[in-house]
Amino acid sequence: MRTVAAARTSASYTPVELPFPAGFRWGAATAAYQIEGAVHADGRQPSIWDTFAATPGRIAGGDTGEHATDHYHRHRADVALMAELGLTAYRFSVAWPRVRAAGGGINPAGLAFYDRLVDDLLAAGIEPVATLYHWDLPQELEDAGGWSRRDTAAHFGEYAAAVAHRLGDRVQLWNTLNEPWCSAFLGYGTGVHAPGRRSHRDALHAVHHLLLAHGHGVAALRAAGVTGQVSVALNAGTVRPLDDTPADHDAARRIDGLLNRIFLDPLLRGAYPTDVLADTASVTDWSVVQDGDLDLIAAPLDALCVNYYQPDLVSAAPDGQHDPHTPYPAAERVAFHPVPGPVTAMGWSIDPSGLRDMLLRITRDYGTPALYVTENGAAYPDEVTADGRIRDVERTDYLHRHLAAAHQAITAGADLRGYFVWSLLDNFEWAYGYDKRFGLVHVDYRTQRRTLKDSAHWYRAAIAAGGIDQPR
Ligand code: FCB
Repeated sequence: MRTVAAARTSASYTPVELPFPAGFRWGAATAAYQIEGAVHADGRQPSIWDTFAATPGRIAGGDTGEHATDHYHRHRADVALMAELGLTAYRFSVAWPRVRAAGGGINPAGLAFYDRLVDDLLAAGIEPVATLYHWDLPQELEDAGGWSRRDTAAHFGEYAAAVAHRLGDRVQLWNTLNEPWCSAFLGYGTGVHAPGRRSHRDALHAVHHLLLAHGHGVAALRAAGVTGQVSVALNAGTVRPLDDTPADHDAARRIDGLLNRIFLDPLLRGAYPTDVLADTASVTDWSVVQDGDLDLIAAPLDALCVNYYQPDLVSAAPDGQHDPHTPYPAAERVAFHPVPGPVTAMGWSIDPSGLRDMLLRITRDYGTPALYVTENGAAYPDEVTADGRIRDVERTDYLHRHLAAAHQAITAGADLRGYFVWSLLDNFEWAYGYDKRFGLVHVDYRTQRRTLKDSAHWYRAAIAAGGIDQPR
């Protein structure tokens, strides 16, 4: 199969074994709190991550997002880096705490930053992809009840409307939320993410209110007449039973319910899965769901975005080995197992087949419109060698294998339209601080110097060729 994507006319291409479809979006992703810094600039208000990071013991090394990669002041140079890489799309998030004025209303100076960023991207020939909520809830709204309170969803709708009116003529793809699973279950369930609450009940209520926020967000984007596609980014995964036994299959069903179907079903079928409601009945009676909510949540989308890192391997936990710290409500009797084989610096297993299977499962079970992989990538302890190079062969291999798995999914029928590496830059990796580096571009946090890693050069070549060769 030595052909290239038909629409690629660039003189620089070399024929590849695995060409991607014409118009495929080749991107990289970031999130506001992880890269921007400038937490006090232009009227930005504190978010739950500012508060959480300032709380001793929450973040490795006591790191915070106060300076991060200083992208707020360096976005021009960062867009130039993206252009050097040949990215055709860039996924960033808009910070709600920049756009919301203290006490409510809109802060035009905060919104203006994203206006400049979007114009700079377009001038560089890069399509802007915006996420409205990548975990940085304004602290004021958490103080009023946060995501376990219904009103927060309506506030999100107002914020989404303001951003849609300002950027709606230029953003090509919108994500209302990023990974609501993490916001709900890590933020309100185990408390390892901001705001650090530990209540399975609050976590399940947060799930519903996040979905409701998505619904209000979609309505606001449509009402503003945005020209781009409207979507949401889920950390959808592949959940496999350890053994072929009824008990392990039931464990996999339960986790698949709480990871995937609890979001996919309301979004794409207009109802929560009945087995998930039954599994969680001891935690909540789900009276937070009101008439009309599911109609709002299930408003048609133009695409579904998925973030993928690793699959889950689960079994029924033997008696006496229940996990009281699981993020999954009513799942103490499920045990999680490492997938045999290599892991990244996060300890996450490397299994590209999980990406392929997830894309095909969503296609089969939900018949979605277009799909995008809006995050995929790996942390490694990169070293800058004496010649200034970063030889991150493991990251290149990771990306190569996952792109090949994505290609398999396309060949088998998934309507995958784009792929975004997590991340453009090394950045603030939430509870892990700056210790974990995911970037295609290395950041020296003392000097803010950016250096393209070898994986970035590899990715640039793949983009220029419109595809990859089969991994060997
Ligand atoms: C995802 C997050 C992203 C980043 C990667 C490693 O869950 O969306 O911000 O932290 O993990």
